Amino acid sequence: MKNLKENNFLIPQYLLPHFRSNHAGETGAIYIYKGILAVSRDSEIRQFSSKHLTTESQHLKLIEEVLEKKNVSKLITLWKLAGFLTGFIPALLGKRFVYATIYHVESFVENHYQEQIDILSKKNSQIKLKKMITELMNDEISHKEESLINVSKLSFVHKIWGAIVTAGSKLAVGVSKKI
Ligand SMILES: [Fe+2]
Ligand SMILES: [Fe+2]
Repeated sequence: MKNLKENNFLIPQYLLPHFRSNHAGETGAIYIYKGILAVSRDSEIRQFSSKHLTTESQHLKLIEEVLEKKNVSKLITLWKLAGFLTGFIPALLGKRFVYATIYHVESFVENHYQEQIDILSKKNSQIKLKKMITELMNDEISHKEESLINVSKLSFVHKIWGAIVTAGSKLAVGVSKKI
């Protein structure tokens, strides 16, 4: 994804809670891959995780360019820990578990970003912001699709784990929108 250095604009008040959760989410995403890389010795998984870690770090950097430090979630350490465990646990259970986890996380993030695009579509003045979120979302969609191809078929256990991960992500977004 290209560098959007020209993003010298600030977030409108009505989108601040969303952006606080975006910042928390992208931070968590980086830690998911750190958690995977702390455990997995599988070269395919390590390559996948290192590549995604780079993209998620770029996402966080973009968000930090537009979100003032004072508006970042106060619980950032918790989001790092939650992200780390979301990578660490499936990495202990094997390759397909890792892909299943990323598939569920990215499906959730896709909806999360789509919601914001829908809000911005109603406003005509935030074209840059909408473009930025769309680019982030497109990356997450490609991560989701790549994971689904790699997992090939989601088992019942993958789906149960996926439901836990989705519920956790939902809770994290709800809390980080406030604090
Ligand atoms: Fe991301
Ligand atoms: Fe992603």
